[in-house]
Amino acid sequence: MAIEQSGEPDTSAAPVAPDAMTPMAVEERRAALDTIAAEVRVCTRCRLWQTRTNAVPGEGHPDTEVIFVGEGPGQHEDIQGRPFVGAAGSFLTELIRSIAWQREEVFITNVVKCRPPGNRDPEADEIVACAPYLQRQLAVLDPALVVTLGRHSLQTFMPGARIGAVHGTARPVDPGTGAVQANAYAMYHPAAAFRQQALRETLQLDMTGIPAALESARSGRLSQPEPLEPLFPEPGAARASVPHLVDPEPAESPVPDLPRERELALARVPATTELSDDQMSLFR
Ligand code: URA
Ligand code: SF4
Repeated sequence: MAIEQSGEPDTSAAPVAPDAMTPMAVEERRAALDTIAAEVRVCTRCRLWQTRTNAVPGEGHPDTEVIFVGEGPGQHEDIQGRPFVGAAGSFLTELIRSIAWQREEVFITNVVKCRPPGNRDPEADEIVACAPYLQRQLAVLDPALVVTLGRHSLQTFMPGARIGAVHGTARPVDPGTGAVQANAYAMYHPAAAFRQQALRETLQLDMTGIPAALESARSGRLSQPEPLEPLFPEPGAARASVPHLVDPEPAESPVPDLPRERELALARVPATTELSDDQMSLFR
């Protein structure tokens, strides 16, 4: 846990590594993200386009190492075309500031990019239809840490996990999500704080674990000697060649203070659903 003696969070891990990219590469990333956003804004792949005012592709620093993934836009997001700008967004921004980061230094997006009417939960087929956009955003950003906000985001990055058991913990992400070398860090949805005061405190405490989770995720990437796995491996391609998914104790364990989470990650059996060319699911 990144709490120093003083009780202050360890803020040494900034979300944008100073030497992460050359300026040119940053511009390429920005352009690739803009291309995805432009496609999202005119997308009609699922029924949600019919009731949206604006699609909400997501926003943030193109060179960040940290992406926050929520569920779907609400009313304010739908009107403005930007993620997390309502009450839950204000609280998320406050949480990010509490560890001395700025929201502009991370990337913020959602599992579905258009508002489910009446703020209902996104349906499974809508999540599947929208998944390629998130997958491509992750491929472009290549984050070290994916912070999941809420149930649907959690199921995308930690299939089968229960939020009550895993909040405030990290585990390796399946490269099939598009994040080829990342850990996911689970958090409750910020809106949960409005329903239960105790969860506000849980969210605040879990947030203080993020800088350490980022540092752990970074060290996991640095200890990776292999070239990156192909982004979209053939179905059934040998996952054993992805060391951080199969090695229980790498020299520098990416999640050193969470042995149980390592066990869970190891026990996780990836599903092998085949993907058609135009329907790349995150759930595989
Ligand atoms: N809730 C979400 O999950 N995402 C937003 O963008 C806003 C509220
Ligand atoms: Fe397209 Fe996603 Fe919007 Fe559905 S939710 S219309 S898949 S952008």
